[in-house]
Amino acid sequence: MRTQVGIVGAGPAGLLLSHLLHLRGVESVVIDVQERESIEQTIKAGILEQGTVDLLRQTGVGDRMMRDGFVHHGINLAFEGGLHRINLTELSGGRSVMVYAQHEVLIDLIAKRLGDGGDIRFGVTDTAVDGIDTDQPTIRFTHEGRQETLECDFVIGADGSRTMCRYLIPERRDFFRQYPFAWFGILAEAPPSSDELIYAHSERGFVLVSTRSPSVQRLYFQCDPETKVDDWSDDRIWAEFSARLGPSGATVTEGPIFKKDVLQFRSFVCEPMQYGRLFLAGDAAHTVPPTGAKGLNLAVGDVHVLDRALGAFYQSKDTGLLDSYTRTALRRVWRAQWFSFWMTSMLHRFSDASDFDLRRQIAELELVTSSPTAAKTLADNYTGLPLG
Ligand code: DHB
Repeated sequence: MRTQVGIVGAGPAGLLLSHLLHLRGVESVVIDVQERESIEQTIKAGILEQGTVDLLRQTGVGDRMMRDGFVHHGINLAFEGGLHRINLTELSGGRSVMVYAQHEVLIDLIAKRLGDGGDIRFGVTDTAVDGIDTDQPTIRFTHEGRQETLECDFVIGADGSRTMCRYLIPERRDFFRQYPFAWFGILAEAPPSSDELIYAHSERGFVLVSTRSPSVQRLYFQCDPETKVDDWSDDRIWAEFSARLGPSGATVTEGPIFKKDVLQFRSFVCEPMQYGRLFLAGDAAHTVPPTGAKGLNLAVGDVHVLDRALGAFYQSKDTGLLDSYTRTALRRVWRAQWFSFWMTSMLHRFSDASDFDLRRQIAELELVTSSPTAAKTLADNYTGLPLG
């Protein structure tokens, strides 16, 4: 088998890149260890930045998002007995975010790729990438019992945080930060508790009130990383939300909980993001803690740069944009690292936090909700830097 761009990973980065390349006439094959159903059903975050929304719309994969997603023009910060709205649209000069779940984006991208005759191999095993320091790298894998060798010009490592591609980059530098907490996430059959998301600071720990649809709500509370979901009955979960949100006056609409999960927190960046003919994109190269929902949006930023760089290569053999990929992508990646870290540390309760630290967090939240300059910093970064 031969293609121009071999893509390891059918997540947001791999699928979107394959779609963008197709639009400019560049061929690709996408492989993934997971089956299609599992990719289409795995619950992740649900906030799309303005640039992500625009790109999906402009490239013909935004119809269902525009129909079923919800445009949000603000978020609320809850702390010290009050709810404070950040007007994202006014502060950011007209930008907003879209509440539309990541797995729905994946459903749309897979349908579009397959509808356009794209080649996606789900459920592959024994993947091995060779020859990235030559002009003809290969990806070997087993699919439906057959061993395949895919010859390509480039390999894209879009294989998520459990990546194998990252480890092919020699002389890598890994930047890493662990957090002493996690999020307990639930999906509940209930109408929205709030018109807009609530990010709540509380002495008992952080709460995020998000949404999915008029009848399904997504909520999270900060927990210990060792927390077992089975230790938390529905009643105990609702009581915890009430205890944490109570002082701000916000309430949650209760309903049957049909999904409980614990999300681990990590900040991670691998530098460089490329070696020879291998380029990493998305979680394979970097992970952010979930506060602010930057993960998918960063993957979109990476592949937007890669698409243009590969386009320039195939149009004129110009490797300039490919050579500078790491430098270009990392500017956005580190900005989002800072933003996710900032939101996380401003809103969460650290186990060793003193009363001083709590007062300092409140002062910071007061600054962000009362100073237009500080609020604008939050709004600009929450709605996302322009792509490219
Ligand atoms: C969601 C997740 C986030 O991490 C966030 O900051 C906002 C929303 C969500 O899953 O809806």
